[in-house]
Amino acid sequence: MIIAIDGPAAAGKGTIALRLAEHYRLNHLDTGLLYRAIGRKMADAGLDLDDADLAGTVARALDPADLGHADLRGREAGELASRVAIHPPVRAALIDFQRDFAARPPGAVLDGRDIGTAICPGAEVKIFVTASPEVRARRRSDELIAKGREAAYERILAEIRERDARDSGRAAAPLQMAPDAALLDTSDLGIDEAFRAAMAIVEAKRR
Ligand code: CDP
Repeated sequence: MIIAIDGPAAAGKGTIALRLAEHYRLNHLDTGLLYRAIGRKMADAGLDLDDADLAGTVARALDPADLGHADLRGREAGELASRVAIHPPVRAALIDFQRDFAARPPGAVLDGRDIGTAICPGAEVKIFVTASPEVRARRRSDELIAKGREAAYERILAEIRERDARDSGRAAAPLQMAPDAALLDTSDLGIDEAFRAAMAIVEAKRR
């Protein structure tokens, strides 16, 4: 079974993907990490993130060790990721890796922006996880506060809106819901409720 989970930043797709993978004993790939690693690698080397061909070269040379970089999870890496993710050569370089991962037994949960539309259009289950920008910004700022870091809600909300616009507005594999995906709005759901709702979608598809 392949489960494709797509949606905007901080909608809860990562947590849902991880828990579905554990529950159904499937492999899990957080595809955002690939774009984050490419953005980080280019920024660390002082390369121009707007150079599509150069970004494609970096993407083709991506090494598993690059995914172990200490600072891939933060907001800055997310920004860098969304800048390199607009380049068609970058997306093309990552297709085979993601599809091979999905094809490996016993199956996989992949989360990202274009899994149900471009990477695994034949996935048995597709879930589009979303939440209002305000709720997503609140979650991001709560995460930062929990880590003892400074969190300016208004700035985080502005960043989320900006990233949504960039991810949805780009020409190459934009963030959009596949026509056969189930919509899961987590705005009013806690983590356990969101997971149960996702499981109900999987079970309905399997029947
Ligand atoms: O959870 P969050 O959205 O903050 O981060 P992420 O899922 O790691 O994605 C970071 C950025 O990578 C996104 O804003 C997208 O621009 C890009 N991305 C993509 O284009 N395609 C994917 N399959 C996954 C991520």
